[in-house]
Amino acid sequence: MCGYKTVVGMVKGMIEELNITVPVALHLDHGTYDGAVACIKAGFSSVMFDGSSLPLEENIEKTKILVDACNVLGISLEAEVGSIGGEEDGVIGQGECADPQECKMVNDLGVTMLAAGIGNIHGAYPENWAGLSFETLEGIRAVTGHTPLVLHGGTGIPAEQVKKAISMGVAKVNVNTECQWAFQKATREYIEAGKDLEGKGFDPRKLLAPGAAAIKETVKEKMELFGSVGKA
Ligand code: 13P
Repeated sequence: MCGYKTVVGMVKGMIEELNITVPVALHLDHGTYDGAVACIKAGFSSVMFDGSSLPLEENIEKTKILVDACNVLGISLEAEVGSIGGEEDGVIGQGECADPQECKMVNDLGVTMLAAGIGNIHGAYPENWAGLSFETLEGIRAVTGHTPLVLHGGTGIPAEQVKKAISMGVAKVNVNTECQWAFQKATREYIEAGKDLEGKGFDPRKLLAPGAAAIKETVKEKMELFGSVGKA
């Protein structure tokens, strides 16, 4: 694993090299406790500790230790309550809804952001998905004050539902699968058109470029939809 100075130096170097003028975070998504500790030590600027599958007391205990460490170091800490499901053994379950009182207990530890299940799941949504539970979101918002809420499983949630969730306190939306699909489609098109067989089209820098550009386009579309353009 890279040491603290190496990771921090790499990120700083990239920011300068790519002339990035907006604030960027190096964030760990769905970390275990040990993973979060390792990333804090490695110099990440933001970590998520996902203790949602642990008994509540253990989630609280571990989140608290990480909150205290992150506060000292000026790092963001995202916690999770009420696990966010997804496909398991080929079966896509309905998303869980977190208990607002449990959310309050974790929120009161002083977390920077809180991810809580409101019927959302990772990956594709089943055809009979009931949609986001705005009742749960309202209940969570009522007891967590101004803490930014995080909506995981952003892929495939209808635009109107995401916008409504944002209007009700969601400040971060995680979208992964949709970016992967965009990459897959563009890369498939490149290869199916035989472009990897023309000239130096096999060069990974050429082969992977359409996929990377497709992810960029998807991210731009999401930023428009979420209303985050120019807000950095
Ligand atoms: P999707 O892959 O469903 O967009 O979810 C991403 C996510 O929540 C990562 O934490």
